[in-house]
Amino acid sequence: MRISIFGLGYVGTVSLACLARDGHHVIGVDIDPGKLAMLRDGRSPIIEAGMPELVSDVVATGRVTVTDDVTAAVGGSEMSFICVGTPARPNGSQDLRALERVSMELGRALVTKTAPHLIVVRSTALPGTVDGVLVPLLEAHSGLRSGDGFDVCFQPEFLREGSSIQDYDHPPFTIVGAAADRPVRLLRELFGGLPCAFHVCNVRTAEMLKYACNAFHALKISFANEMGRVCQSMGIDTHAVMDLVCSDTRLNISAAYLRPGFAFGGSCLPKDLRALLHAAGRRDVEIPLLSGVLTSNEAHLRYGIDAVLTTGATSVGMLGLSFKSGTDDLRDSPLVAMAERFIGKGLKVRIYDPEVNLSRLVGANRRYIEESIPHIGSLMYAEPGPVIDESDVLVVGLRTPEVVSELLGRCREHHTIVDLVNLPDRNRLRGQYHGVCW
Ligand SMILES: NC(=O)c1ccc[n+]([C@@H]2O[C@H](COP(=O)([O-])OP(=O)(O)OC[C@H]3O[C@@H](n4cnc5c(N)ncnc54)[C@H](O)[C@@H]3O)[C@@H](O)[C@H]2O)c1
Repeated sequence: MRISIFGLGYVGTVSLACLARDGHHVIGVDIDPGKLAMLRDGRSPIIEAGMPELVSDVVATGRVTVTDDVTAAVGGSEMSFICVGTPARPNGSQDLRALERVSMELGRALVTKTAPHLIVVRSTALPGTVDGVLVPLLEAHSGLRSGDGFDVCFQPEFLREGSSIQDYDHPPFTIVGAAADRPVRLLRELFGGLPCAFHVCNVRTAEMLKYACNAFHALKISFANEMGRVCQSMGIDTHAVMDLVCSDTRLNISAAYLRPGFAFGGSCLPKDLRALLHAAGRRDVEIPLLSGVLTSNEAHLRYGIDAVLTTGATSVGMLGLSFKSGTDDLRDSPLVAMAERFIGKGLKVRIYDPEVNLSRLVGANRRYIEESIPHIGSLMYAEPGPVIDESDVLVVGLRTPEVVSELLGRCREHHTIVDLVNLPDRNRLRGQYHGVCW
């Protein structure tokens, strides 16, 4: 294929060299004449393992040209990759000037092109940037409509500096955010052979994915570093601990706990986190990330509570009370905290939880209800029916087949359903649906 690449920094230059290595004809475009001159001479404008040799080789093949003439680059290629920088301004907002400028230039160049052109955005940009900033500029400066003369898609880049050629050849996955088939078809032709999954999604999902991945990577590093500081303060070998943490691919290094849902609770996570924070505090070890976890959880609980209170309803039915389905453990259950808040606000509260049946409860749980939340025990119903029928807002903290079928059968238009569990069949529910995380 013939590909033009706009922006010859880390992403653009590595793409240029690897695409040319793989037999494609590549035209590099940059506003920096120094970078163009270096590439023309077969020298890499970036310092990166393997790049000096690769650039020299691919330039020698004649498959690489460089120019600052945007019209010639667009005219001489089937698709253009946008790889310009999107740096942060001092307040953290993204500086889109390079993206805007390149979009205007590409728009003007499209005027002279008769064949369809594909624009592939590789720069990292916040969700909405492609459809809200780039496409309007391309349309305004070309007089064409996106999808009619040119297509735009978003393909996030996952290479890491220092191992970028290796990452180009072995990405974690290929993601194409597109609203049409043509971009997907062309990019599958180009990257479908890589040893990874090829996912197609909408543009905003692809834009957000890059931020989700980078935020997660940053979070992992900071988590490991905080655990390292705590371990060190206690004379424990951090690597011995973290090696074992990483060896658990069922609960730790897995998709477990990585789906948005309701606030965590129960008898272990909050208690053990608090004990760790206390132990670190006693040793003057700062762990702001771990300290922030409980604050984050409380914010999430408030989000669910506010979803109910802002409806102005006077009665609330709670389907589920324990901290998760399949247990009767009420200690530190966020649903108990919710119920207490509703009671405090004067709402009429009705609760159904088949696992939490006072007559069956024994031991610590029975004692907990009788001593700590006796007022809640008296609000429990043995059947979900009356809870649904007699309440305006329904907080759903259980997704058992029984609860789902009762909701489908009994919900009416006046109900507001606050879903904490990602209910199946939600389109079939009557009433106002409000998902807390989805
Ligand atoms: N560096 C990485 O490891 C990496 C990895 C993944 C994603 N990204 C993202 O990719 C994008 C590019 O990153 P980078 O590190 O390669 O940037 P960079 O700053 O190294 O390079 C950007 C290049 O774009 C050129 N440029 C600016 N305006 C231009 C224009 N109008 N026309 C042509 N060229 C122009 C600049 O001269 C520069 O050479 C950023 O959005 C970044 O967040 C970077």
